[in-house]
Amino acid sequence: MIRMEGKVSTEVLETIRHQTDIVNLIGKYVSLEKKGHNYTGLCPFHQEKKPSFTVSQEKQVFYCFGCGTGGDIYKFLMLAENLTFPEAVQNLATQAGVRIPVPAYLGNEEQTRKKEQLWKINELAKNFYHYFLTKQPEAQPARDYLAKRGLSLVALKSFQLGYAPAGWTTLLDYLKQQNCLTGEIMDTGLVISSEHGKGYDRFRNRLIFPIYDFLGRVVGFGGRVLDDSLPKYLNTPESSIFNKRNILYGLNLARSSIREQGFALIVEGYLDAITAHQFGLANTVATLGTSLTEEQARLIARYTREAVIAYDADLAGEVAALRGVDILHASGCLVRVVTIREGKDPDEYIRLKGINAWKELVANALPLLEYKLIKAKQKKGTTRVILQQVLPNLASYKDAVEQEEGIRKVAAYLNLSWEVIKNEIKQFETQQRKVRPDSDKNVNSSYNRNINPQMLLKLPVNRRTRAELELLQLLLVEPTFLVLVRQELGEYAFKETNFNKIYRCLKQTYTEGAHPNPVSWLHQLDEEAQKVLNRLLVERIAIDKPEERTTALIKTIKEINRQEQQTHLLQELAEAEKTGDKEKVALMLAALKQIFKDGKPDKKLKSLTMGGK
Ligand code: UTP
Ligand code: MN
Repeated sequence: MIRMEGKVSTEVLETIRHQTDIVNLIGKYVSLEKKGHNYTGLCPFHQEKKPSFTVSQEKQVFYCFGCGTGGDIYKFLMLAENLTFPEAVQNLATQAGVRIPVPAYLGNEEQTRKKEQLWKINELAKNFYHYFLTKQPEAQPARDYLAKRGLSLVALKSFQLGYAPAGWTTLLDYLKQQNCLTGEIMDTGLVISSEHGKGYDRFRNRLIFPIYDFLGRVVGFGGRVLDDSLPKYLNTPESSIFNKRNILYGLNLARSSIREQGFALIVEGYLDAITAHQFGLANTVATLGTSLTEEQARLIARYTREAVIAYDADLAGEVAALRGVDILHASGCLVRVVTIREGKDPDEYIRLKGINAWKELVANALPLLEYKLIKAKQKKGTTRVILQQVLPNLASYKDAVEQEEGIRKVAAYLNLSWEVIKNEIKQFETQQRKVRPDSDKNVNSSYNRNINPQMLLKLPVNRRTRAELELLQLLLVEPTFLVLVRQELGEYAFKETNFNKIYRCLKQTYTEGAHPNPVSWLHQLDEEAQKVLNRLLVERIAIDKPEERTTALIKTIKEINRQEQQTHLLQELAEAEKTGDKEKVALMLAALKQIFKDGKPDKKLKSLTMGGK
């Protein structure tokens, strides 16, 4: 855990926190739904099908009941964007319009600086190419080409398309003139090093498609020829900021629309996506020629649980679609598939038949099972082969009704009985369990229920832990009881160390009249204690009579303390008697007598202290 103290003040952290709405922030990544006082959604940090990821707006924290990940706005951004703490602070400060006195880069300073440099150079290059396309006479053929394909000026602007001129070092010269270092220019992949060391532009006389990550940073480029020559597209190679596996082209522009429309439309190519956006289908993203990856599926699942795949009409598109549907289904999405019969891809279809025909095609996309069944039958597969293809999908339904519907569909299609298919699913599941034990099983997807201390602390549950847990929860809700707890139970009121750490934070920040902000303690706590606090904060507890309950809990804990001390003293006494240490025997008896006076001693103790007179 990186500490910020001394670098960025707690005050700054609190200001940023105050300006940032955690539901808003997380909502950019996770599709959240209001459930009672909290918001819930599918956890972005582990695979799950039922939402156990919880955000508390009131407490400004998040917590996943499935994987135990939790924290505040800073922690969320660190995890979601793979940032260091200072980077996350910087990022949120910028968004919130808060100025940080010292940009504090700790830890991965070198790596971070390098990434930022790559983003910066890519941004410069993107602007350079875009300027060239829109302003330079030399780019007339490129503009003609785009016009011929029907691209609007608006589309061209929102996707920031560009043109790379024909010269060998036009971009390189420009970037150098902008004081970019040669080594860093090379790292973007925009310039290729030559034998004589100088290097030359990767893209020459090509249309340029900047590739953004979902936050709108330029991570790479694609370049298309203006005619039929090959290779049709060139792309910048992978780098520390560009990994094709987790990029969806257009997602930066599609995010909000995907959430509004309730589904994502997934196409193959740059132009399929751009054309769809141009005609108002802004929930379209492209996988850029590769088949859909698990990372991309997870990216989509952040915004929606429904996806429609619309790949090219050729065999490659069909194969990619068949693989894509399984990956999407496994990540918890409802999947449908569009089959294109006119034109070779969505772009051509829209140009040919119009946007309304396309919308209708999308609306009538086949659900996953039907699509698979039809495809398998077209290939003249045997009943067994066809069944084998849909078993994984049938087995992975988490919703019993959906599964039932699926089974019925397959049964009717293959002319098999319901029981036979149910049996096959069972067998398939047994096999699967042997291959890999189901990790989703122990995911606890319920929220707002009583905390089970065993789950929280991985500790044996006893009376003390339960009482301490409840008392701590009470204190977080009603900090005014701190005075009483402190007076009755002292400075180390809790035996459980994590509870005590939280208790210490409360003592440090509590002043009468001012309500302490527990979320600000997260950065002082170690991982374990953070987890406990997070969990306690998202959990709302109902207390009828807080004062009475606090008094009762204090009494219980005191009684447990007494009993434990008593057991301890009795052991010591027995030991002293065995060794004949008279002085110690007397001491132990005196101590036991004191306990007798304070509480309700058990029978054994009573007889002992009476007889010891
Ligand atoms: P397509 O060949 O279907 O191209 O490749 P397209 O997008 O329909 O382009 P137009 O309509 O012919 O202009 C689909 C995607 O695969 C990637 C590109 O991202 C392309 O958009 N691709 C294709 C490459 O990266 N390299 C290639 O040589 C071809
Ligand atoms: Mn095309």
